[in-house]
Amino acid sequence: MDKFVIYQSKLFGSVRVSGSKNAALPIIAATILTDEECVIHNVPDLRDIQTMLAILQSLGKSVEFKNGTLTIGSKPNKSFLAPYRLVKTMRASFCFLGPLLAKRKKAKVALPGGCIIGPRPVDLHIKGLRALGAEIFIQNGYCHAQAKELVGQHIYLGGAFGSSVLATDNVLMAAVLASGETIIEYAACEPEVEALALFLKKMGADINGIGSPVLRIKGVKSLFGCEFTIIPDRIEAGTFIAASLATRSKLTIEGANPFHLTSVLETARRIGAKINIGPDFSIEINPTSNLKPVNITTLAYPGFPTDLQAQFMACLCLASGISLITEKIYPDRFMHVPELNRMDASIQRSGPYAIIEGKDKLCGAEVMASDLRASAALVLAGLTAEGKTQVLRVYHIDRGYEQIEHKFRKLGAKIKREKQ
Ligand code: UD1
Repeated sequence: MDKFVIYQSKLFGSVRVSGSKNAALPIIAATILTDEECVIHNVPDLRDIQTMLAILQSLGKSVEFKNGTLTIGSKPNKSFLAPYRLVKTMRASFCFLGPLLAKRKKAKVALPGGCIIGPRPVDLHIKGLRALGAEIFIQNGYCHAQAKELVGQHIYLGGAFGSSVLATDNVLMAAVLASGETIIEYAACEPEVEALALFLKKMGADINGIGSPVLRIKGVKSLFGCEFTIIPDRIEAGTFIAASLATRSKLTIEGANPFHLTSVLETARRIGAKINIGPDFSIEINPTSNLKPVNITTLAYPGFPTDLQAQFMACLCLASGISLITEKIYPDRFMHVPELNRMDASIQRSGPYAIIEGKDKLCGAEVMASDLRASAALVLAGLTAEGKTQVLRVYHIDRGYEQIEHKFRKLGAKIKREKQ
């Protein structure tokens, strides 16, 4: 296992964001919907992507991954089983369910199980697919689904916490090959869902309302291969925005889409950064030395993303006053709080709320990465803290950030990877 050793750093220069992990994962699953070749560019080389590709290969697809380009073809093997051995490491693999059902009429996908950030049910996935006519039952930890024919329906897909990204993806991928029209109401509007819908359209799907909460899908008989480029990773971009604020360093972020970051840029402005968007859409962040406290509520897109809550909490630990973070998507997603407090932050958690009393400085400590985004927050805290910080179990961060320590080192960060 690896760890990061980090010292306080001032950052400078520019950094280029990679392709979006969360956009690439369902798009990889969607290639099940055709037997023709798909070529996908700007795919980040991450552990989660490798897991998704391993499942895809076990389902009978050929995969070549070179310099960020994935070429996916078909082999005669037409399995419909996504095994627990692979699915357990990554929840997104559950989105093989919709495409398998639509194309191979049968799916057996391991249930992803619990997760450190709290309960993660799949009721909306099952509700949506059942509405299209699938017979679904759970047995021995697997979700079994089959359907002679999927038939378009009007489906309301809102849940207790609002819309669901991967449930929308699953139902959308099943509906593109269903007969008749499907309307998904309360669809998730995240740019990653929009990217999947655009990929499906390139494959020949008939989808209207892309990017809105109401998707209208007219089923087609078959889909073709296509070429597609993955959108930039807005969460990686947001992490560098938070790094710029936390270390009070002027940074330029290249290759991101600022239109996917409106709530994040607005929050950065409120905390105290001047932001310039260049003609090439590069984002220049120029933070003031005196960070202001703010209140942040995580919400579905276009609200502030839960996947940036931990990183912005690390910034607010250094603001001059009291901030409140309300976590509306995963009320238990606060594993980073005790770790930040070990670095002398002052954060109190109560249910879905965290009250952060800003301090002049944090102190280096040995801390434990608990999940992907929490690990990123600890790296940011380490870059601002006095003394040495060691972030243990960084395999979490490798799931979702491509070459993170190289990118930070290029910006002047004192960070190195060592064996734990
Ligand atoms: C995706 C992202 C993840 C992000 C999350 C919220 C990927 C691979 N992952 O996860 O990084 O944190 O969106 O933006 O894209 N829910 C239900 N029933 C369901 C499904 C979800 O109640 O059947 C709830 C969840 O517990 C949560 C909320 O809905 O409270 C949103 O979750 P969802 O959008 O489904 O998250 P994922 O798609 O799993």
